[in-house]
Amino acid sequence: MMKAAEELRQDFPILFQEVNDEPLVYLDNAATTQKPQAVLEALEHYYQHDNANVHRGVHTLAERATHAYEASREKIRQFIHAKETAEVLFTRGTTTSLNWVAKSFGDAFIKEGDEIVISYMEHHSNIIPWQQLAKRKKAVLKYIKITPAGYLDMADAQKQITDKTAIVSIAHVSNVLGVINLVAELAAIAHQHGAVMVVDGAQAVPHMPVDVQALDADFYAFSGHKMCGPTGIGVLYGKRQWLEQMEPVEFGGEMIDFVHLQESTWKELPWKFEAGTPNIAGAIALGAAVDYLQAIGMENIHNYEAELVAYVLPKLQAIEGLTVYGPQNPQDHTGVLAFNIDGLHPHDTATGLDMEGVAVRAGHHCAQPLLKYLEVAATARASFYFYNTKADADKLIQAILATKEFFQDGNF
Ligand SMILES: Cc1ncc(COP(=O)(O)O)c(C=O)c1O
Repeated sequence: MMKAAEELRQDFPILFQEVNDEPLVYLDNAATTQKPQAVLEALEHYYQHDNANVHRGVHTLAERATHAYEASREKIRQFIHAKETAEVLFTRGTTTSLNWVAKSFGDAFIKEGDEIVISYMEHHSNIIPWQQLAKRKKAVLKYIKITPAGYLDMADAQKQITDKTAIVSIAHVSNVLGVINLVAELAAIAHQHGAVMVVDGAQAVPHMPVDVQALDADFYAFSGHKMCGPTGIGVLYGKRQWLEQMEPVEFGGEMIDFVHLQESTWKELPWKFEAGTPNIAGAIALGAAVDYLQAIGMENIHNYEAELVAYVLPKLQAIEGLTVYGPQNPQDHTGVLAFNIDGLHPHDTATGLDMEGVAVRAGHHCAQPLLKYLEVAATARASFYFYNTKADADKLIQAILATKEFFQDGNF
């Protein structure tokens, strides 16, 4: 049994404040999540007691810092069920992770005429690195369609992925449609055609159990700050067979074995990819975030968020003139709820909600091709996490109704 959200909230000091004279209701978790006390303490503890550079010193602090940094890598390995820590690279976040794959794997393996298959529901971070790679290599970038009901079109995936495909890269969970994509099936299709499967897990790892081996992902990217960890730290998982054949993206200190005047050799995995002083504090605090999430249980988090969606989605759907994007069945929708209200610009909606203390995002959510596909310029987006309560959901609904009345009655 998971602790109640009301109890878990107590671990997040930031949630206990007023915004515009109203208690804060934080529903922008898809953008970034809040940090529990345990993560804040891990950061502080590191800087107050163990701060030293890693992998370089023999003194006690350096050994402690190195031990904590590598212990965190092991926690992450277990968390995503990678075979070995050599396959877990620390990066700045999902964006960096995907750029590394596009640059390093792309440079090593992509040839003119090869095809890269993504989908219309990708975040810009899972589009632009592939566009750039396609330009560099004269490869072809193709998009899998979305069904009218808001799911990835698996029949179209079967058509788009062919023997010419070298890379398939898809979001595990959409940051706009809130739909969970069938990445294990996509990986199987990709592998049948000799392509690699890259997964953008930014919106999945924080919210549900993820097993990179069960998915048979070749690469899997995610960000610490969306899973209770600090900003500026993230992970790229890659299968050893690929990482070994890939060149580092950056060069310099920490990642070398020997440096000669004209040539150098690299350390073994995973360090050959981690040039320069890494975000040591961030990596250690991400380990603390993993401990915190695992104590709650990822299955519990997933189930609780499903319960919240089953509670709030029908209430949203019942509001006159309000459209929720993505699957309409609560069972197929994660806690990412993008919506629009007829006659209201999403920025006005978000500003109205902020006046009520409710934090949501408005805009294109770094998914302009998707919004074009949906034929909308922007949306508002409420996104839930395990520390949100049904009272938060009620406040969202009440604040939407108040905002609607305010703007639609024209009494401003
Ligand atoms: C699906 C998805 N992919 C990638 C990213 C980029 O993550 P980051 O900005 O942490 O690199 C995000 C962040 O919003 C996202 O939602």
